[in-house]
Amino acid sequence: MGMKPLVAGNWKMNGLTAALAEIDRMAAGFDAALAGRIDLMVCPPATLLAALAARATGTGIAVGGQDCHAAASGAHTGDIAAEMIADAGGTAVIVGHSERRSDHGETDAVVKAKAEAALRAGLTAIVCIGETRAEREAGRTLEVVGGQLAGSLPDGAHAGNLVVAYEPVWAIGTGLTPTPADVAEVHGFLRGRLVALLGAEGSNVRILYGGSVKPSNAAELMAVPDVNGALVGGASLKAADFLGIAAAY
Ligand code: G3P
Repeated sequence: MGMKPLVAGNWKMNGLTAALAEIDRMAAGFDAALAGRIDLMVCPPATLLAALAARATGTGIAVGGQDCHAAASGAHTGDIAAEMIADAGGTAVIVGHSERRSDHGETDAVVKAKAEAALRAGLTAIVCIGETRAEREAGRTLEVVGGQLAGSLPDGAHAGNLVVAYEPVWAIGTGLTPTPADVAEVHGFLRGRLVALLGAEGSNVRILYGGSVKPSNAAELMAVPDVNGALVGGASLKAADFLGIAAAY
């Protein structure tokens, strides 16, 4: 497949001002050869977004948000709008991360509305889906991720403004990963659903795998068909680990 993989780091609620220096170390390793093979992105907490975007200027490393509100502006204390992420220098935003779905009760409809707000602001929406351990053990993985995908996809999505991230909830931050065969099954299924939902565009939408990706397992996971990159949590906090994952390409 000809699409360029995306390796995106989700810093979650980690990172004080001192963490900005990590972008310099990432940039130092993101040389022209690597930049020719993959896209690299860091999604810091909102407090660091503008400063990190400024510091990443000229490095080729993109910066994104971790969440946005569905509304363009207004009385929503503590939330940030997609346009604010764009204004701060972000080009993408993660929506529907399982931690948002579980900690904040976000439904597919909420995630879809947020993704649509992202597209309206000119951002790429990185839409996250994934089954829980109980759902996997009950044999419901494809049903669950298929439902989340259909319910969360923004209207107006195409390969240039949509990324899907498959993150099995039980693999996030646990050190556990599905087997390559299990990843292949889910990503192949999602590819088929994307084509069914978006037509030919669906074959070019990047589908990332996320959940305990680290330098030691990245090559195996990234070699799976229809895995078009990674969404990395813990291992994206340090340049050495993050670049070690990127080097899988
Ligand atoms: O969004 C990325 C994430 O949920 C995966 O986290 O720490 O398992 O790589 P981690």
